[in-house]
Amino acid sequence: YLDSVPLGPPDAILGLAQNFRECAAAEKVNLVVGAYRDGEGNPFVLPSVREAESRLLARGETKEYAPITGSPSFVQRALAFAYGEECEALTSGRIVGVQTLSGTGACRIAGEFFARFLPKGTTIYVSDPTWGNHIPIMELSGLTVKRYRYLDRSTNSLDFDGYMSDIEQAPAGSIFLIHACAHNPTGVDPTTDQWDSISKAILAKGHHVLMDCAYQGFASGDAEFDAGAIRRFVADGHSMILAQSFAKNFGLYGERVGTLSVLTASKEEAARVLSQLKLIIRPMYSSPPIHGALIVNEVLGDEKLRSQYYDECAGMAERILQMRALLKSELIKAGSTHQWDHITDQIGMFAFTGMSADMCDALTKDYKIFLTRDGRVSMAGINHANVAYIAKAIHAVTDG
Ligand code: LMR
Repeated sequence: YLDSVPLGPPDAILGLAQNFRECAAAEKVNLVVGAYRDGEGNPFVLPSVREAESRLLARGETKEYAPITGSPSFVQRALAFAYGEECEALTSGRIVGVQTLSGTGACRIAGEFFARFLPKGTTIYVSDPTWGNHIPIMELSGLTVKRYRYLDRSTNSLDFDGYMSDIEQAPAGSIFLIHACAHNPTGVDPTTDQWDSISKAILAKGHHVLMDCAYQGFASGDAEFDAGAIRRFVADGHSMILAQSFAKNFGLYGERVGTLSVLTASKEEAARVLSQLKLIIRPMYSSPPIHGALIVNEVLGDEKLRSQYYDECAGMAERILQMRALLKSELIKAGSTHQWDHITDQIGMFAFTGMSADMCDALTKDYKIFLTRDGRVSMAGINHANVAYIAKAIHAVTDG
């Protein structure tokens, strides 16, 4: 049968990352994947993470299986990080959480859970655009995927009216997949007032929410601020599932560490939900890997290490903000007369430049600058040494 297996297309993000690896040009630049790089362009392991790892080693942590739902202590600390220590729903046991294979794994379990327990044919609405992987994750979970308006492509800012009207027009009881902060790929987040209206509109229609939180602390540099939308939605009493990733904010990309949590109405409901999450997880992969979770547990569980971590995470966010300002000023210096304010207005790992697929292709072909074809630039790949080269190349392809 294998002779009839068709060749599948490469992944829109990870396929290009592979092309970058295979490119031999000395001047090549990687602006594809949302993975932090330091000022010299190197991968960065947070010193607090290194310290936690050495403690685990010194303590002789074993390699035993975690429970199906992962490390209980990690889950508890991870949820307090997202919802806040004082969150009533959390302290009263109404939020039930499991450890997952990072944010992707959490989204997949959420998709499976929705498909099993919401009425057949329920639609999940994702932002237009959204992280490319959201769509196949939800489709393969058996949900119908539709889009809600999000980015106004003429201004590269939020299409707030379109967003509100799509919430209103979606059949009651649909699911809305929302990025908690640092929207991927656009870097465009609602303002506090807009969040307020979005929350009210979703509640009024009885929609369910899947909140995907991949950048807490990484967006503004302040983990509490970046959790604002999550905490507001809990306070407003939504039907909500949270997918939480520690890939970016802890730099634990390859460790695959995250959580999925469900906001329920009572402890009894929480117990039923948890039993079903176990039934989804066990036949998929039995139980999650432990190393990354032990690291996060160690960092969040130790006051000194935790405060060191906050500073380090803020440092990453700060470097990205500096690179935004620098990229914009280098574009102007290169002679570009386009409006680039959105580069500094947007937040998080990415700048959504507004470049067309043809322009992106030209950047890759002529300048060996690799980026996704939607015009998304991973700001983490930019540093003092390459910013002028990148700006000149962007100017050349956008003015050509
Ligand atoms: C990205 O959007 O580049 C990251 O979230 C990595 C990925 O898995 O796509």
